[in-house]
Amino acid sequence: MTARPGMHTLTAGRGLLFGGDYNPEQWPEEVWPQDAELMRAAGVNLVTVGVFSWARLEPEPDIRDFAWLDRVLDLMHENGVAVDLATPTASPPPWLGHRWPQTLPVDESGHRLWYGARNQFCPSSPVYRERALSIVSALASRYAGHPALALWHVGNEYGQVCHCDESAAAFRAWLRGRHGDLETLNDAWGTTFWSQRYGDWAEIVPPRRAPYTVNPSQRLDWRRFCSDALLEHYRAERDVLREHTPGTPVTTNFMGLFKPVDYWSWAAEEDIVSNDWYPEPGDPLAPARTALTHDLMRGLAGGRPWLLMEQATSAVNWRPHNLPKPPGQFRLESLQALARGADGLCYFQWRASRFGAERFHAAMVPHAGPDTRLHAAVRAHGRELRGLARVAGTPVPARVAMVFDWASWWALEERGRPSDRINATDQLLSYYLPLWERGVSVDVVPPSADLSGYALVVAPNLFLVGDRDAAALTAYARGGGVLVVGPFSGVVDERSHVRTGRFPAPLREVLGASGEEWLPAPDDEPVRCRWAGGAAFTARTWTELVAAEGAEAVAEFADGDLAGHPAVLRHRAGDGVAWYVATMPEAAALGEIAERALVDAGVAGALPRLPPGVEAVRRGDVLFLLNHGAETAAVPLPEPARDLLTGAVADGQVTLAPRDVVALRPGA
Ligand code: GLA
Ligand code: GLA
Repeated sequence: MTARPGMHTLTAGRGLLFGGDYNPEQWPEEVWPQDAELMRAAGVNLVTVGVFSWARLEPEPDIRDFAWLDRVLDLMHENGVAVDLATPTASPPPWLGHRWPQTLPVDESGHRLWYGARNQFCPSSPVYRERALSIVSALASRYAGHPALALWHVGNEYGQVCHCDESAAAFRAWLRGRHGDLETLNDAWGTTFWSQRYGDWAEIVPPRRAPYTVNPSQRLDWRRFCSDALLEHYRAERDVLREHTPGTPVTTNFMGLFKPVDYWSWAAEEDIVSNDWYPEPGDPLAPARTALTHDLMRGLAGGRPWLLMEQATSAVNWRPHNLPKPPGQFRLESLQALARGADGLCYFQWRASRFGAERFHAAMVPHAGPDTRLHAAVRAHGRELRGLARVAGTPVPARVAMVFDWASWWALEERGRPSDRINATDQLLSYYLPLWERGVSVDVVPPSADLSGYALVVAPNLFLVGDRDAAALTAYARGGGVLVVGPFSGVVDERSHVRTGRFPAPLREVLGASGEEWLPAPDDEPVRCRWAGGAAFTARTWTELVAAEGAEAVAEFADGDLAGHPAVLRHRAGDGVAWYVATMPEAAALGEIAERALVDAGVAGALPRLPPGVEAVRRGDVLFLLNHGAETAAVPLPEPARDLLTGAVADGQVTLAPRDVVALRPGA
């Protein structure tokens, strides 16, 4: 097998990538040379072209016009800008839905969704598949060998779901593959409940709008199917591209912790992992949420560099109230992605649209033109990235892993559970936060990952866990690792059937503890707890009646029915240590748990002392310090270092204004 092209194929000879979505079809052709000129001046070296060009490329079925795109690619090439060429299949032209209404998606209630926006296709529609592959193959054969072509961008932000009859047929075929026969399917879905038994495959439909709560096992399989059906379509497009251009890497842009699509299965089918990420400027947790998302991308990329495909220079337009980014903010965010393993920092979009649904979305060239403070900042950022080229390709080493699983996420957040207040991504973030604050690098990994290289593994919530994954977590701790497990874990199997007996059944032995009741707490009543030393802390929302079976109670509940019962447990398991947290502790208490687990694991942060709001992360031989706080921060340094951004030497300490960043290499 020959090695697939990857991020290195793109960065070789170019260094870090900088650019954005370029939609020249929205502008008269006289504007294009101005764009090229401005791109050159800004150090742009990669643009994504053609994401929404299907109607322009194929105005009528099989009538195609590539001449304009030829000129765009030639122009980019003449100006030293590489092209990430998109397949235009995220937004089919009106003719597709008009002539073949069965290509339009249908929602849970049976309503068809129309053209006039974008994303209007059924992932399982044979006609859509055929028309999509036809334009993709024309595009690939035309641009194979074009010197501007550097990367393929398949579709855009996959996430479509369709409940139509063609989807139902595809769902049945998928279910046959998973379960084999109807009896196994009936068992897996627990259809003795509420008289749901299926006697014929034809009776099975997607979970459509129903009078009451739909079967959670059916819904879990449906989510698996929806992710797989889209993946099958992505693969079909990718295979056409690979056939024509085997040396050109292929990606599709992800959306962070995006629920509908299981990115672990998708990333394996890409040459480069890319992500679109739009932190909310008003969210105080945005810096940590963003760091977590970047760490997920690095995990998806198997530790290799990834590409930030889209971010915004300032406000987006799709939230109800769109806060702008203050000066310095987009640079800070861009460098944060770089620090966490991105080799390319790209934006949506190059030139702000005058018309259409996104005309109030920020861009690299705003409506007011290039002579603006925003565009000046874009240029300055492009320039400084050239000075950081040495960072490209370098790894972000991490000794801590956090386990995250889409199937568990899907299974957890169904209706009809003890509490809607416990959710997978909030749990993930709450356990990530204290590690991020301490400058501890984290890899986000799937439960099936090889954990042997990590000193600490945190599973904030594994509501659904398979026997094999539970055994691997057990073996990891028993073999000398440190494992931290959050509440309401190990509850169901892969079919979303409750594992009976004391919980968490498959992790009971390694945790040296087990429980018998889940006890959500009233919203307005903090749960008082006490560390073994006597100090108090509070938790919220969730408690469990748990007993130690070999573990020590590091903290216990202080009040009420649960007073004196363990709230946090630590167990010497074989050669390692396993922690179980049977509640949702406040941030400071989770910080305390993190610190103790880090001590167990012998892991330290990037620097011993970090002021609040300052993020520290090491990439290769560079230490990035990023000030997300509102105050100027002084950070003590253990050794003299030179800032790659300014050339200044820091000795003893470095001072960071709000939103400032340093990229330090040891030595003066
Ligand atoms: C109703 C229904 C039962 C069951 C309970 C659960 O009473 O009749 O079948 O669903 O609610 O509370
Ligand atoms: C997504 C899409 C882009 C654009 C931006 C706007 O990331 O991929 O086409 O709609 O959002 O923020």
